[in-house]
Amino acid sequence: MKNLVVFASGRGSNFNAIINAINEGKINAKISALITDKICPAIQISKENNVDYKIVKPKDFQDKDSYINELIKNLDVYKPDLIILAGYMRIIPSQILDIYPMKIINIHPSLLPSYPGMDSIKRAWEDRATYSGVTVHYVNDGIDQGPIIIQEKVKICDDLGKFEEAIHKVEHNIYIDAINKVLKSFDFVIVSNCLIEDGYRYNNESKISKRVKKIINDFEGKVYKFCPEAFLGVPRKPMDYINNRIISIDGVDFTDEIKNNIEAFIGKIDPCSNILAILKENSPSCGVKKIGLFTKSIKEKFKNVLIVSEREI
Ligand code: GRF
Repeated sequence: MKNLVVFASGRGSNFNAIINAINEGKINAKISALITDKICPAIQISKENNVDYKIVKPKDFQDKDSYINELIKNLDVYKPDLIILAGYMRIIPSQILDIYPMKIINIHPSLLPSYPGMDSIKRAWEDRATYSGVTVHYVNDGIDQGPIIIQEKVKICDDLGKFEEAIHKVEHNIYIDAINKVLKSFDFVIVSNCLIEDGYRYNNESKISKRVKKIINDFEGKVYKFCPEAFLGVPRKPMDYINNRIISIDGVDFTDEIKNNIEAFIGKIDPCSNILAILKENSPSCGVKKIGLFTKSIKEKFKNVLIVSEREI
């Protein structure tokens, strides 16, 4: 059975909703511990439900590293499959993200990327927007910035209290759906070769990402590794993606060959699969940020795909 650890700093209504969902058989997992950064009402919920709790207060430690090590030590004990932030008011240190990449999720009371940070409910309400909402996302090094798992809109009404209530009601349902979605995992992972193996970039220099490597190593299903330009060997001339064409710096147009390669590769994968694609952020052929051909083709072919770059995790 999957093992969850919840982090909270406040009243813990989301923590409580997750406990209820487990008790009602809506989530097939157990919560092995609650970790907080202070004395807070969530601890009482944990006591009432016989869930272990640990209070790890940064100010109890001599320096930041000892505090982070204590968090890591606690997580080592529980070995969570998933870490769930439920109103945890601290940034997750990058050392923890290195150990648990794409295994930490957070709930935020707005439609991200709108209103990240504090007081999101009030800020959206004060702006008199028509809608705000709730987002569940993977945690990365940014604040409320990781890849989005689920979002739901909530209509803003005149009464702030009622709007807050509506947001929390949606939170308590959407978090359960998001947890189930994440626990179900992906059918396949597609990964840009240069993020995990040597010898694929044009100049033969490695851009290996340790978080991507960890995700790939931990993934239990099939991993498809691919480099759309690999057939050109290394070293090769760097390419650029201009006006939908991939052209090397000495002016040779490789678009058609690269396109054929991509089509042959994705043609092997069932279009109905639920896929995680981890693709290089800046690359003419992969390219998540300035969209490259590979990202474009994956978006067109697969309906159930989460595309992330090595810098977003
Ligand atoms: C929720 O609004 C959640 O979206 C945000 O912090 C709040 C926590 O509420 N991250 P609770 O402690 O779960 O009641």
